[in-house]
Amino acid sequence: MTARILSGKEIAEQIKREVAEEVRGLVEKHGFRPCLAVVRVGEDAASAVYVGSKVKTSEELGMISEHHHLPAETSHKEVLKLVKDLNNRDDVDGILVQLPLPEQIDEREILEAINPQKDVDGFHPINVGKLSQGQKSLVPCTPAGVIEILKRSNIPIAGEHAVIIGRSNIVGKPMAQLLLQENATVTICHSRTKNLAEIASNAGILVAAIGRAGFVRAEHIKTGATVIDVGINSVSSAEIAKELFGEDEIEKRLNTIIKRGFTLVGDVNPKEAKEKAANLTPVPGGVGLLTVAMLMKNTVEAARRRRGI
Ligand code: GUN
Repeated sequence: MTARILSGKEIAEQIKREVAEEVRGLVEKHGFRPCLAVVRVGEDAASAVYVGSKVKTSEELGMISEHHHLPAETSHKEVLKLVKDLNNRDDVDGILVQLPLPEQIDEREILEAINPQKDVDGFHPINVGKLSQGQKSLVPCTPAGVIEILKRSNIPIAGEHAVIIGRSNIVGKPMAQLLLQENATVTICHSRTKNLAEIASNAGILVAAIGRAGFVRAEHIKTGATVIDVGINSVSSAEIAKELFGEDEIEKRLNTIIKRGFTLVGDVNPKEAKEKAANLTPVPGGVGLLTVAMLMKNTVEAARRRRGI
């Protein structure tokens, strides 16, 4: 079997076109552009790339974006004050504090300080609680993006056994809630799970969100499964790359390592997954692109709900 590759690019572009259309409607009918404020503290390299893409995309879709970049030594109190100022500003519809934060800052307190109506990441306990009760809420972007990939690729969810590897607050737990809402039978596995391969290889839908390059191998995958790879890891060793990529891709990957010093890989071994799965999301070019698209969708949604339109 050679898996169908589920391109995140086309689906993300489609969602972004829909959001741009909605923004045009808000400007014409209601005379405002949704505004997203992004807060970044310090110099984490990956965060800089993610935030850059969030700010750029929101502008491309006709929204207003603000990038508040604070120095790494900023105190907890100062970040808290910025969040409160953004809460109080009527023109700001969405607030996103990029994680991870430097260690002097209490992440939990910052996330709890965001007005839940402006919480476009869906990390505030109010939104987490609403999601778990199936109430309308702002939903974390990455798992929401996974649902969009499945639906827009016509992959049935109801009644399927969905296995998630990873139990983070950002992906694993909200992913379980969303799949449950779609009537899947859901299992969450994690680092302490016994018989991980046995459980995973039972899944019609397997979601890998562990943060370990190429962790999911043939033994974890049921023949004909849909495999969703949420991982983004960098690999700089040619030897490891050779274990992960088949003839179709290895040359390109080795060239990338030579040129940039690393190549981006997911939590799934694509060489093995392509031979067993029916559907597979690529890395890069898969779920990651959806995260940004769903953030844009959440920002418009937050603007509408908060303004009662
Ligand atoms: N860091 C890694 N992923 C995310 C995300 O989805 N939102 C925020 N705010 N920070 C992140």
